[in-house]
Amino acid sequence: MRPDNSDVFELCSPGHAQAVIGLQWGDEGKGKVIDLLAPRFQAVVRYNGGANAGHSVVFGGKRHSLHLIPSGVFHPGVLSIIGNGVVVDPGALIGEIEKLSVAGITTNRLKVSSRAHVVFPYHKSEDAIRERTLSERAADSSIGTTKRGIGPAYADKATRSTAIRMADLLRPERLRELLSQIVPARNRELAAIDRDAEPCDADSVIEQAIGWGRALGPYIEDSVRLVQDVFASNGRVLVEGANATLLDLDHGTFPFVTSSNCSALGVCAGSGIAPRRLGGIVGVAKAYCTRVGGGPFPTEQANEHGDYIRERGREYGTTTGRPRRCGWLDLVALRYAVRLNGVDAIALTLLDVLAGLEELPLCVGYRIGGELTEHFPPDAYDLRRVEPVYERVRGFEGDLSGVRRFEDLPGDARRYVEFIETFAGAPVRMIGVGPDREQTIIRG
Ligand code: GDP
Ligand code: IMO
Ligand code: MG
Repeated sequence: MRPDNSDVFELCSPGHAQAVIGLQWGDEGKGKVIDLLAPRFQAVVRYNGGANAGHSVVFGGKRHSLHLIPSGVFHPGVLSIIGNGVVVDPGALIGEIEKLSVAGITTNRLKVSSRAHVVFPYHKSEDAIRERTLSERAADSSIGTTKRGIGPAYADKATRSTAIRMADLLRPERLRELLSQIVPARNRELAAIDRDAEPCDADSVIEQAIGWGRALGPYIEDSVRLVQDVFASNGRVLVEGANATLLDLDHGTFPFVTSSNCSALGVCAGSGIAPRRLGGIVGVAKAYCTRVGGGPFPTEQANEHGDYIRERGREYGTTTGRPRRCGWLDLVALRYAVRLNGVDAIALTLLDVLAGLEELPLCVGYRIGGELTEHFPPDAYDLRRVEPVYERVRGFEGDLSGVRRFEDLPGDARRYVEFIETFAGAPVRMIGVGPDREQTIIRG
């Protein structure tokens, strides 16, 4: 259902959906790309993750940070939907709605799926305790989660009997019945892992949840029906990914991943969109690589090059403020992500950050135990042993932030982009030269 692949804004026909997903370890600039594409769509649906995500959108001299609300929210005509595959921390969502309102942004067209699962305070405690236990076991075994309760909330979803969904927040009796059982049991489990674990008080959790239901009641709806209504009226849906391919629970650098299918492979289950409705995939990649938290990162530069990138790219987490680990672009990993997701077009972000480096190494192969390969290994164990093989290309100079046409980029910057698309196997249709919505080059 791809009408014409020449336009990154419309890779799908009316009545179909287009997805925007991250191709690396997150923070590729998905928020910016979604904000740019959103006005051409009737709805934007987030399909995975929770408040572990941090998406920045910059326009009119202002920076907005979103964690749960889709990045299409700045366009009042577009329906914003938090889909069934998301795990929602209602307190964080209420805070986000209030912050937007203070900034003069309306959430009148925001909806939250009644099927989405709820993140409770005990999920966040468990997340923190498990992280601490892991780091005590061995320095390199901790995942470095955001401690937003994501893993424990998805674990409860799979357990079923200990899960609570958004629709339950509107049923005080059911909340009392469930939480009066779940909270004491969870307190006992956490005390068994960590004697000092702070217990949760069941009654206050119940009251808090009833309050959340009251505040969020007007937003909670059957999101699948909303999406189907858009298709029925021949509208288009933009699907927003959070986290990214190399953090995908099945296809990322397991076990140093998040707890959802954040690659394009999770789109249908997390949004309620039939596979045949999915008409196009935009993959977002930085012109280099970053990673937050633990896990292998073959091209990491824990040196002055990494520091140069971190400072120029403001590479500090939107969610946790942690400095991001920085390194050269890993084309082996990028090609893996392009193929896995079936990417139609790449949005290459933060190209401006690399200006001023004399030479740009691109990782085009891995040496694992003396053997050369161009394939991305399926887990962290092998990835940890990788020695990257680099092809070095000439760097470029100058301030790119005012460039709006590909032809106006320095020749070496254009060659860098062309090298990437040839190796990765998908065209670069959008290039970021600054954080602002306007600082974007569109290539036909
Ligand atoms: P997301 O999680 O994928 O939405 O990405 P984040 O918002 O967490 O991180 C991307 C960061 O890069 C944010 O601070 C953006 O404002 C910024 N950004 C996005 N695109 C560009 C770009 O092309 N150039 C520069 N300099 N910054 C960008
Ligand atoms: P966006 O949407 C960068 C990382 C965490 C940690 C691992 C597991 O902004 O790109 P979790 O809290 O999910 O259990 O942590 O995944 N992580 C992200 N890193 N950007 C994100 O989201 C991330 N979401 C999760 O740092 O290493
Ligand atoms: Mg982010």
